[in-house]
Amino acid sequence: MKTAIIPPSPEAVLELGSRLRTGELVAMPTETVYGLAGNAWDPEAVAQIFAVKERPRFDPLIVHLPMPEHPIGLEDLWASGLVRRGWGDQELERVLQVCWPGPLTVVLPRDPQVLDLVTSGLETVAIRIPDHPLAQALLQAAGIPLAAPSANRFGHISPTSAQAVWQELAGRIPYILDGGVCPVGIESTIIRYLGQGHWHCLRPGGIPMATLAGILGRDPDPLPAPAQPNAPGQLPSHYAPRKPFYRLPNSWKQIQTHQGIPSLGVLIWQGDPESVQHILAERLGIPVQVWCLSRSGNTEEAAQRLFACLREMEASEAALLVTEGIGDPTGLGAAILDRLQRASLPLERLQTDFPGQLRLDVG
Ligand code: TXA
Ligand code: MG
Repeated sequence: MKTAIIPPSPEAVLELGSRLRTGELVAMPTETVYGLAGNAWDPEAVAQIFAVKERPRFDPLIVHLPMPEHPIGLEDLWASGLVRRGWGDQELERVLQVCWPGPLTVVLPRDPQVLDLVTSGLETVAIRIPDHPLAQALLQAAGIPLAAPSANRFGHISPTSAQAVWQELAGRIPYILDGGVCPVGIESTIIRYLGQGHWHCLRPGGIPMATLAGILGRDPDPLPAPAQPNAPGQLPSHYAPRKPFYRLPNSWKQIQTHQGIPSLGVLIWQGDPESVQHILAERLGIPVQVWCLSRSGNTEEAAQRLFACLREMEASEAALLVTEGIGDPTGLGAAILDRLQRASLPLERLQTDFPGQLRLDVG
């Protein structure tokens, strides 16, 4: 299949909207990451999403809706035909009004007509109203809810540009709508709303937990130990480069000596990558490349650059990749830490993965 990167225009959006309606897939920009969108009411389109991503069917999809012209209310959720009619309360409505459109996904009891394939047979459905002009225009043009997971192969790094989607899915999908670089850069926060202000956090993301706790007046309830993972975002290995990638216990400064490592790629949260490169290359006596999430330590910038940095590191000459194991855990920092945690293995694993061959000593 030929894959076209489509420059945005009102005509293109209308055309892609009608193609979505008739069951074709479109990779669309959102404020978080690019999504692989298909008609949520069409079982063949949804099956195609799983096939293209090589995604296991136990991993349910988020359904995206357009923003109404009036302040969003529970009525709008019920009218979508996705959420169980009559379910919800004022606290939920307040969260939606503050956070939508935006990087929040809410898991709610579903309407029986929602496809089992979309929810992986769960009794709940995940809903989000994205805050990106092109995503909104496409949702309006399509006139149907769009099921859209991140537009990457399952378990790999999420795409935050049209070129990154191309790397992931060229030859497998017909259209990529080019919206440039995603401004948030990290996926939506997923909460399960339980009623009466109670909630679970299933995945940290673009909306800080503290914001939600502020609106709902309470911290999230502890998650019951899942028999199966509730969100493969929660699976231990996810968002991962296809190259050995380990996390240091702490900062890059701890790196002292090595054995057998031909070249090293290092991800740091902030600072001056050139001077870090210099120090480490000297210390280790091997080629070192350094990527920095944000020179000034700005968390929004760090989130926006995270997946692009991981892509560059994967494509680089560096034989082995490491990331700092610490960073500011507040706000978006929690989501960045979560992604890095799932993309990498603890450094102790290096010696067991490459016994007698590779060692990186930290002080
Ligand atoms: O920012 C985002 O959320 C992006 C953009 C494209 O909207 N989408 C995204 O989708 O990250 P995906 O499929 O990569 O991650 C969605 C997560 C999955 O881990 C899935 O398990 C979880 O949402 N999920 C979906 N429905 C659920 C449900 N009913 N209960 C619990 N988790 C659910
Ligand atoms: Mg994903």
